[in-house]
Amino acid sequence: MILGASILQLPAILKAKEMGLLPVVCDMNPEAVGFREPGIMKEVISTIDTEGVLAAARKHQIDGIMTLATDMPMMTVAKVSHELGLVGVSERTALCATNKAAMRDALRAAGVPIPEYHKVSSLRECREAVRLIQEHGFRCIIKPADNSESRGVDLLREFSREAVERAYAYSRANSRSGGVIVEEYMRGPEVSVETVAQDGEVRVLQITDKITTGAPYFVEMGHTQPSRLPALTRERIRQVTIAANRAVGIENGPSHTEIIATAEGPKVVELGARMGGDCITTHLVPLSTGIDMVRCCLQLAIGEKPDLTPKFARGAANRYFRQPDGKILSIRGVEEIERMSGVRQVSIVHGAGETVGAVRSSGDRIGFVIAEGKDADQAAARAEAARCSLSVETAWAGPGKAEEEHV
Ligand SMILES: Nc1ncnc2c1ncn2[C@@H]1O[C@H](COP(=O)(O)OP(=O)(O)OP(=O)(O)O)[C@@H](O)[C@H]1O
Ligand SMILES: [Mg+2]
Repeated sequence: MILGASILQLPAILKAKEMGLLPVVCDMNPEAVGFREPGIMKEVISTIDTEGVLAAARKHQIDGIMTLATDMPMMTVAKVSHELGLVGVSERTALCATNKAAMRDALRAAGVPIPEYHKVSSLRECREAVRLIQEHGFRCIIKPADNSESRGVDLLREFSREAVERAYAYSRANSRSGGVIVEEYMRGPEVSVETVAQDGEVRVLQITDKITTGAPYFVEMGHTQPSRLPALTRERIRQVTIAANRAVGIENGPSHTEIIATAEGPKVVELGARMGGDCITTHLVPLSTGIDMVRCCLQLAIGEKPDLTPKFARGAANRYFRQPDGKILSIRGVEEIERMSGVRQVSIVHGAGETVGAVRSSGDRIGFVIAEGKDADQAAARAEAARCSLSVETAWAGPGKAEEEHV
């Protein structure tokens, strides 16, 4: 059973079919793209409707349950796998891996390096937390306790009453539970780490260098494998990742851990008990290691033992196209980019007629390119060259202006 039928889950649906499995796919949206695949069983149920999913799982007598790169269905995975005696995470793990407050508490209790943090549920508490962190000489990140895609994440640039109030309101509006976290702003290069745990043994498959838009919203704009950080830093990152997986109790299954390599050593931004998104797991890991990570996770979910050994060591990278501002008139250059050396895929998500603007969350990005190379430098250079070759013509979307610009 695969929870979700959006484009994110499509690689799992296709891989399950390729493996000769019969996927039962759940999504509340009957029009979801994954439902168009032939050879699957469809269940129109919300992936967070635990009882509904459990009933469907019983009806189909499923052999395993998973979701590819989303946090929302984690609790359903936990409850259904527990009820049916299947491989999966526990409810505690699902909570710690999706709620940033519970996660921070679990990591702190296990002594895993993390930034100073405070859980707040009112503007008054938020002001107090900001004061404490400021007192320790740090800048502050304010973020919702339970959202993703960088929604509601904000770096506080100044400490005026208005600035704190604005940042709190932005995070709070993006928090499902109303909980908000104020934490120390960590400085240093950021990586993400892909792991698969099997019977309690956590294997690090790849470390990925990450490029974000930076402050204030930190949306991911590119990923490069393998990480080009020094070997000693990478080893520390590995250790911190394994400790973080243990702290939240991931015994069997993947994890995606985000880490900042600070001057005091690597500290955890967050981790999910699931595979990484942004094509990291589905495309970059197979290109750089030869490990078919989606297949491995499907195998784990149905109780098989996947082969997690790397087949080779190459480079892989993706880059999101530079963001235009305004109404898209035309996008040119896709075919030329597809023919460029090392380019494996070009995807455009927002097309002509759509109005786009600054990137505040992942969904705002217009598209991306994936490239491979003999090593990280070559893959990154190829992806970068491809990224710069796209031509987007826009018109300002406001009233009375016909200005055009090329990005
Ligand atoms: N304490 C921090 N110090 C420095 N940077 C941070 C901190 N917290 C978050 N960030 C930056 O903001 C990004 C998004 O934060 P976080 O991962 O917590 O939110 P998210 O909504 O789960 O995002 P996503 O789903 O894109 O991973 C991080 O990848 C990182 O670049
Ligand atoms: Mg994150």
